Amino acid sequence: MLNHALAIIHDEHRSLGAVLHGLRFLVREMQGKNAAPDFKLLWSMIYYMDAFSERLHNPREDTYLFARLKARTHEADEIIHTLERQHAEGASHLKQLEQALGQFEAGMPGGLEAFAKAAEEHIEEAWQHMSLEEKVAIPLAKKHLTPEDWISIAEAFGENGDPRFGAKPDHEFRDLFSRIVNLAPPPIGVGPAHCA
Ligand SMILES: [Fe+2]
Ligand SMILES: [Fe+2]
Repeated sequence: MLNHALAIIHDEHRSLGAVLHGLRFLVREMQGKNAAPDFKLLWSMIYYMDAFSERLHNPREDTYLFARLKARTHEADEIIHTLERQHAEGASHLKQLEQALGQFEAGMPGGLEAFAKAAEEHIEEAWQHMSLEEKVAIPLAKKHLTPEDWISIAEAFGENGDPRFGAKPDHEFRDLFSRIVNLAPPPIGVGPAHCA
């Protein structure tokens, strides 16, 4: 169960990482190569980050992984405090990113620059956050959690896990992820190539 739970968490990080990587690529193409913005794709990516990461993945971490770890040891208190704070800050930074995209799409002066800046900051924060989880929190969880803890974490993160965290079953997010990959131009996806 430990391996199953960790495989799901790693997999979710990989999917989110792919979307972050894709967003960074699009931002750099728009800024560096004057590529035309693909707002449908940009909104899909931001929706994915909000619906999947902010509303599903992070609350499951808070409620199961971090809560269990807090109950088992004080060794992880500091790192959990940091990660919980980053979850809260990430949510408000994502709102700012949404606003910046709306302003960019509406043609506000400096819209691209403001969106690019907000996107780079959000991407960097999200990478650092996931890396902290993978390198510090998960090793502590492996050290301290019991087999029963891992069973409940695997259940919570599994298909149709805790219904409190959204009515959408996980396969809907897989479909959304596939749509993003289909919309995105090479090299990040299989969609049509961008015209500069
Ligand atoms: Fe997290
Ligand atoms: Fe995470």
